[in-house]
Amino acid sequence: MSTSPDRPLDERIRIREATRQPLGPTQVRIGMLAMTILPADLLQMNQQYGHQPELPYVPGHEGVAVVLETGREVSDLQPGDRVLPLGVFGVWSDELVVQRRSLVPVPSHAPVLQQAMLAANPATAWVLLQHQVTIQPGQWVIQNAANSAVGQCIRQLATHMGIQLINVVRRPEAVASDEGGHWLVDDGQDPDSLQQSVRQVTRGAPVVLGLDAIGGKASQALATSLSPQGRLVLYGLLSGEPCSICAHDLVFRNIEVQGFWLANWFLDPNNRQKAKNVYPELMKLATQNVLRIKVERVYPLSEVLGALAHSAQAGRCGKILLTGMHHREHQ
Ligand SMILES: NC(=O)c1ccc[n+]([C@@H]2O[C@H](COP(=O)([O-])OP(=O)(O)OC[C@H]3O[C@@H](n4cnc5c(N)ncnc54)[C@H](OP(=O)(O)O)[C@@H]3O)[C@@H](O)[C@H]2O)c1
Repeated sequence: MSTSPDRPLDERIRIREATRQPLGPTQVRIGMLAMTILPADLLQMNQQYGHQPELPYVPGHEGVAVVLETGREVSDLQPGDRVLPLGVFGVWSDELVVQRRSLVPVPSHAPVLQQAMLAANPATAWVLLQHQVTIQPGQWVIQNAANSAVGQCIRQLATHMGIQLINVVRRPEAVASDEGGHWLVDDGQDPDSLQQSVRQVTRGAPVVLGLDAIGGKASQALATSLSPQGRLVLYGLLSGEPCSICAHDLVFRNIEVQGFWLANWFLDPNNRQKAKNVYPELMKLATQNVLRIKVERVYPLSEVLGALAHSAQAGRCGKILLTGMHHREHQ
């Protein structure tokens, strides 16, 4: 990945052959099986993300891998074990060398594509529902972009936790009517209209938390739908617009607005204890089939440009993933 964001992506991305690095004593060589294309990857390529690496760089934040070789001091992993690289950047590679401490073992028999999508979006959904406000079963939460991968995980976790959730999507085809739950089709442009619809659904019961992936006017629409003292958590910038909340909501209704970035949450020493439980809990829920993210299409890494164009399209019905060369042996 190189050069300025003003040029089209296909002029900025090259597939490069790299020489194999030697392995240090505490390192592990992993073969990537499947990798997700996240909105974060696209933001980063357009120099709009919270962390911007020096150019040129290998993109990719999330995926699942197989252990190929271990350094001489690594005794608890074997070739063939399946692992999640966490906090490892540059996973859109066939192989890479990482420190043992960055790898979390996962079961070798579980579906590869679901494992590839476990690190970022389910963890975000989990932390948003478990650690932003204390929500009691039966209380109401509202989210927008409810058909996104994060939105799907929030739906699944809310059902699991007994939370009442209002799912807002921008187009009728995005409503998962087979699933039940409360759905509203709303483009976020008219806060009063969304508030009316929310009141009809909740019959006036308080909505304590709003989860906003969009920003711009959509933030105001969620804020208006919250009850006094409600909290709006802005965790995505899908509209690319500045988040607008009117002073009336902040001053007279005491709506609290907060930004959230999973990377910062994990870095905060106050969250150290809670952070240790996130992935064990998510893996348990994935094994119990509580968490499942829809996939639209899988591309080999060699077709990354087509995959990127596809992932930037509106109206998808699931995630776009990439596969590395070791994928064939471990499906
Ligand atoms: N803060 C964090 O730590 C964190 C962590 C993970 C993800 N995120 C953020 O969470 C958001 C969702 O990520 P994802 O991977 O779940 O996304 P995804 O599966 O790729 O889905 C994208 C969703 O965004 C909707 N969308 C796109 N542009 C929109 C707009 N202008 N207005 C309304 N809806 C729009 C799409 O709706 P259609 O289907 O109608 O096209 C679709 O539902 C992203 O902003 C991502 O950066 C944040």
